[in-house]
Parts: sequence; structure tokens; C-alpha cells
Amino acid sequence: MNAPEKILAPAIGASQPHESARAHVTGTATYIDDIPEIKGTLHAAPILSNVAHGKLRGVDTREAEAMPGVRGIVLARDIPADPVLATFVHDEPIFARDKVEFIGQVIGLVVADTVMEARRAARKVKLDIEPLEAILTTHDAIRAQSFVLPPVTVKRGEPDAALARAPHRLQGTLEVGGQEHFYLEGQVGYVVPLEQDQWHVYSSTQHPGEAQHWVAHALGLPTSAVKVECRRMGGGFGGKETQSGHIVVWAAIAAKKLRRPVKLRLDRDDDFMVTGKRHPFTYEYDVGFDDSGLVTGMKLVLAANCGWSADLSGPVADRAVFHVDNAYYLSDVEIVSYRCKTNIQSHTAFRGFGGPQGMIVTEAILGDIARTLKLDPLDVRKRNLYGIGTRDTTHYQMKVEDNILEPLISRLEASCQYRARREEVARFNEQSPVVKRGIALTPVKFGISFTATFFNQAGALVHVYTDGSVMVNHGGTEMGQGLNTKVAQIVADELGVPLERVRVTSADTSKVPNASATAASSGTDLNGRAAQFAARQVRERLARFVAEKQECEPGQVIFAAGQVSTPSTHMTFEQLVDDAYKSRVQLWSDGFYKTPKIHYDKVTLTGRPFYYFAYGAACTEVAIDTLTGENRVLKVDILHDVGHSINPALDLGQIEGGFVQGMGWLTTEELVWTDKGYLATHAPSTYKIPATGDWPPHFKVEFWPEANREDNVGGSKAVGEPPFMLAISVWEALRDAVASARGAATVRLDAPATAERVLGALR
Ligand code: MTE
Ligand code: HPA
Ligand code: MOS
Repeated sequence: MNAPEKILAPAIGASQPHESARAHVTGTATYIDDIPEIKGTLHAAPILSNVAHGKLRGVDTREAEAMPGVRGIVLARDIPADPVLATFVHDEPIFARDKVEFIGQVIGLVVADTVMEARRAARKVKLDIEPLEAILTTHDAIRAQSFVLPPVTVKRGEPDAALARAPHRLQGTLEVGGQEHFYLEGQVGYVVPLEQDQWHVYSSTQHPGEAQHWVAHALGLPTSAVKVECRRMGGGFGGKETQSGHIVVWAAIAAKKLRRPVKLRLDRDDDFMVTGKRHPFTYEYDVGFDDSGLVTGMKLVLAANCGWSADLSGPVADRAVFHVDNAYYLSDVEIVSYRCKTNIQSHTAFRGFGGPQGMIVTEAILGDIARTLKLDPLDVRKRNLYGIGTRDTTHYQMKVEDNILEPLISRLEASCQYRARREEVARFNEQSPVVKRGIALTPVKFGISFTATFFNQAGALVHVYTDGSVMVNHGGTEMGQGLNTKVAQIVADELGVPLERVRVTSADTSKVPNASATAASSGTDLNGRAAQFAARQVRERLARFVAEKQECEPGQVIFAAGQVSTPSTHMTFEQLVDDAYKSRVQLWSDGFYKTPKIHYDKVTLTGRPFYYFAYGAACTEVAIDTLTGENRVLKVDILHDVGHSINPALDLGQIEGGFVQGMGWLTTEELVWTDKGYLATHAPSTYKIPATGDWPPHFKVEFWPEANREDNVGGSKAVGEPPFMLAISVWEALRDAVASARGAATVRLDAPATAERVLGALR
């Protein structure tokens, strides 16, 4: 018996490069707009409402139709089946019909030979709209009782009595803005009619199954007539969970009418105007606390600005309610959540999915409590943390079983030298009249699982070819996060083959059906496990085949490093596969996974919505210029919990990228709607995402060493969204700097904390 020549380390746990890294940087990675176009392909451009709310009395397309290259105009009357999009709430007309509900609403498409021809002609369409009063803010919506879904209240204990008894009280309001996804690849879809009313749809989407369902519904076809494919997105960040579906439905209606392949690629300005963003929130709070800073009672009103339709606002607002506690035990609490209907874009999923909007208000309150009591904010935060064995049940009745908050925070506090730096900051501020510094250390506890329990399922296919190469297909989508790399690592280890032997192909609804969105950070947890189970079945079949021939137990057959060994023999994976094929052993399998333990009551929002929590903490130091309000992030130290990392390089990228994206949300990314409901910041000239120059000069990230305490793939934890919320430390540090400049206890600083807002807060 020969021993394997070289021992290959397992693929899991190593910083393998992203499966498309080379293709990304050499420009050979194919995005939807790079797919070679089929002869006869037409291009579409949207006709947009220019009134926020009004009666649509007429659409005059004559001038547009006469423009060069124009092949047709598509309006609501051209929709073959249901004119309402197949969303959960069923409240969105596909194209505006008799009324318009926001500036940017799509009334129809102009279809032409080229994109530029379509765009030019779309501008020539004349709309006859009789304006009605528009509701733009949560305040107006609540006054008018204008909601996309009914309000929800979650209550525990006796908040009124607790507030009445409290030694100290704070009341206040806060406004936190939305956020444009700003994926580098804009929304795009390419719809190709096939024979016999079948359709091949290329969509830049996080949810191919939903796009498939929507297209079939709009065309009046069975779901099986539509195939949706996505090799990769150039970023999604939640913005392509539902909003991508609209694009392909619109293009499909045009393709149906004109009997041609149709591509719809929004330009950046239209993408801003048409698609929904992170929900802006407004807050009212009343909180009671004792001399130690312990919160004894709290009443909160969270109002989400949902825009003109429900979209995912129900689950987003639910997740906000689930995350107002963040890392803290709230004994007597009432939360009222309004889902406001307004005449702006329909806001949607965005990294954190309401979690950031839930947490930020409580972090603000704790910062203000600390300053009111002249205590260190970190001490007040620690004072309020969930306990172990006591104070360990959330306001939605879920026991926090995997709490690592105290040791994690203390470890970061020591490693970043929080206490010494707090003193340094104070000394600096005493000597520096204009520039002031601030520091804050804030934790994150983020629930992992889709709040809609049934979404927590996944499927995969693993095919082993006779040469021993492996192809994997799963229900998830690749948006840059590295899901396909992690899934390939998992499958490689399960089969004991080198990573290079495993390829993950495009997401495709004809391979794995009914897949959930790649969202809620659970892409690897769900699809990685499903793929692992599929690979395991193939391996177990191979093991039984070998065991029978070698007269040993299947458990004695070892698959590792591309080699297969038994007590008596040894062969390569390729030899075994070839042999097994010739003996008619099935070399491919499916796999299915559903998350265990989770359940919750949708009406009362109580139960165990999450399989586990992901934890982290960040310490951020900032500087502000008190004459201009300009501000800068100087130092960031992060300790984050990814369990046993499947791929540390990818996880580091997610932590850094998530943090910087969160920093953008809370500092420079400002969405401004005019009093007419027009989004004035609809291009990079006025909407500022963080640039390379905003990268913190000191940016240190460490991983918490422990495995996930729940049985999750490879001992890992989801990482996509949780680090986003570590950026709340940036905003808290800015408030700390403002407080120190003003010598004030409570600081009203709405987000994003632009230079103007910081200057305003200093006055
Ligand atoms: N990372 C990159 N590079 N691009 C993205 O679009 N989306 C984020 C996060 N990280 C995103 C990303 C969001 S909103 C989610 S929910 C997760 O990735 C989804 O992927 P996962 O579940 O595989 O982590
Ligand atoms: N997160 C992200 N997307 C979702 C969720 C969620 O909890 N629920 C439905 N879509
Ligand atoms: Mo992420 S917001 O769940 O797509």
C-alpha cells in the first residue's frame, strides 16, 4: 500500500482566493450586460412619472414613436396577465395605470434598437398627470394614518409603571436616513423568448426564484415555462432581493409584445430614481434608568418610511423590532412599529434588513444616559448587557443561549486600550480648541435566519464527472461575497478532493427550484449545508462501493487530498470514480437542508426567529472640526465573531466592507427629497459613498476564536450583514466628540452625520 504523496490541507479554514478573483480583476468575469447579445435584441428604457402623486390621465407617445430606432412602446395595457406584480402583499401595479405614486414610478418602456435611442425617445413621452397631495415623511403618514401594513406593538412587562418609578428619565426623537445600495453593477435584465412560450431570463438578482415567479405570473404562464439564470452580480446588498424582479418583468412584457429578446439596463440616475433604498426611520423614545445607568423601562416608537408599496417592509420593520435590544436586556419595554406609506420609492432590503435601524436608537439612548450620569458610555453599555442564566430572554421571548458579549467586549476593550485612549482623547480635547476627538465602543448582536421561517431551506446538486471533476449547483447567488468559493471549499472537503477540482456554476431555477433569496446572511449556512449533504451522499455511495470490493466497512474508507484509502488499498479519487461509473454507481446527488429549532408567531412577534446570534464589537475614534463640521474616522478596532471561519480572507473582506458601508450610511450618504418628492441626490455627484481616502488610517480586525455553539456548517457563523452595524460606533464617537466640544449631556445628531449636521449639533 502506498501512502498519499502529499497531504493536502483541508480547503475549509484557509484563505482561498475568491473563485472569480482573477476574472474580476482582468475583466473576464461575465455580468449580464457582457453576455453576447442574440441577433435581433432590442433595448428598453423606462418612462418615469415626474409627479409624486397624481391621477394619470393620459400618455402621449406619438413623438417618441417617431424617434429614430424606436420599435415600440409598452404600457400597462400590454401586460398579458395580472397587471399587479406577484409580490407578497400584491399591492404594486407593474406599470402605473390610472395613478402615479412617486417620482420615478415606471409607466412603461420605450423599446428601440439601441440603449441611447430608447433613452432619448423615453424623454419625449408626454404625461398628463393631475397632481394630488403627496405624503413624503413618516410624520405626515402617521397623521394621515397612511400605512402599507398595519402597525405592530410588542410589549413586555409594565413599561408605564417602570417609567413612572424610574429615578431618571430621558425623552427624545431621532431621525435616521436611508441609503442607496450603489452596487457597482446597476440593475439589469435580459429576457430571451424561446420556442413554445418558454423564456430564458438573465437577471442580476439575489432571488432568481422570485424573478421566475413574477415573470410567469405577469405573462400568465406556469412557473416551469420560465428559467432564470444569474452567474454573478456586481453587488446586491439587498437591493437585488426584489427590485431586480421588476426589471425582468418589464423586459419580459416588452419581449412578449415585440417577439424579440429585450434587455433593460437602468443607467445610474434612473436606478436611483426607480428602485427602493434602505428605509429611513424616525424615532420617539421615553426611557427610565437608575443611578448606575441600568435601563428600567422604555417606550419606543419606530416609524419606517416604506415608500409607496409594501415590498419587504413588513419583514424589515419586524427585524427592526427584533433588534432594538441589540446586546441589552430590556426588562419593561413597549415598541410600536409603524410601516408608513409615502409617495417615494418603495424601500427594500439593505444589509442588516432593519437591524441597523432597530439598534441605533438604543445605542443613542445609552450614550445619552451615560453622559447624563457622567459615566463612561462603555460602563453603561456593559451594565445593560444580556446576562447568562439571568436577564437572558429577549423582548420577543427568545432565550439568548450563545451569549459571548461580556468576554468579547472586555477583550476588545483591553486590546484597543480603550480606557487609556479615552483619557488621551480628553487630554487632546482640553488642548485643542478647534478639532475635537471622540471615541466609542459599541457591540452588535445580530439574529441569523430569515424571519419568515419557511425561507430557511435550501437545495443543491453535486455532480461528479468520470474524470473526477466536480460541478456544484445550489440555490444561492454570488454577489461578490464569496458564497461560491465557500460552497466549493465545503464540497471539496466532503469529497476529499483538491479545491481546484470543484466548480460552482450559475444560479439557475431549472436546476434547484424554489430557492430562497440569497439574503439574511444565510447563504453559506443554507446552501453550503445543502451542498455538503449532496456531496456526502455521493461519497457514501462511493464508500459502499469500495467497501464491498475491499471487504471492509464503509466507515473505513477515507477520502482525503484526492486519494481514497482503505486498510488494504489505496487509489486516486479519479481511479475510484472511473471504476464506480463503469459499475453503474450514481455519481451525482441532490442535497436539502432546513434550519432546525426556529419558529415564531407572526402576529405577536414572539418565539425563536433566529437559529443563533452573530456577535461583534468595534471601537472607533474620530475627529471633528468644530468650525466646519467636517469629520474623519481615525482609528477602528474590531473584534468579530464568525465562528470557525470557512475562509478568513473572505470573512475579513466582509467585515471591512460591511463596516465601511455602514460608515457611509451614518456619515456621508445623504438622500435628499425635495418638497415635491423628487430625489435630488440621484448620482455620485451629489450622493457620496465612502471613497478610498475615507479608509480609516488605523483599521484592525480580529476574529473571535470560538466555533458556533449551534451545529452550523464547518462551525462557522454568517458574516454578510452583522459587521455593517459595527459602524454605529462611528456615529457614537461623533456624538461623543460633539458632546465634548459642547460640554453637553444629550446630543441630538441625526444620521447621516454630514458636516452640516455635525455643525448643527455643535450649535
Ligand atoms: N458582499 C458583497 N461583496 N456584495 C454584496 O452584495 N451583500 C450583503 C453581504 N455581503 C453583499 C455582500 C448582504 S445584504 C447579504 S444578506 C449577504 O452578503 C448575502 O450573502 P451571504 O448570505 O452569502 O453572506
Ligand atoms: N432578511 C433578508 N431578507 C429577507 C428576510 C430577512 O430576514 N426576510 C425576508 N426576506
Ligand atoms: Mo441582505 S439585506 O439580507 O440581501
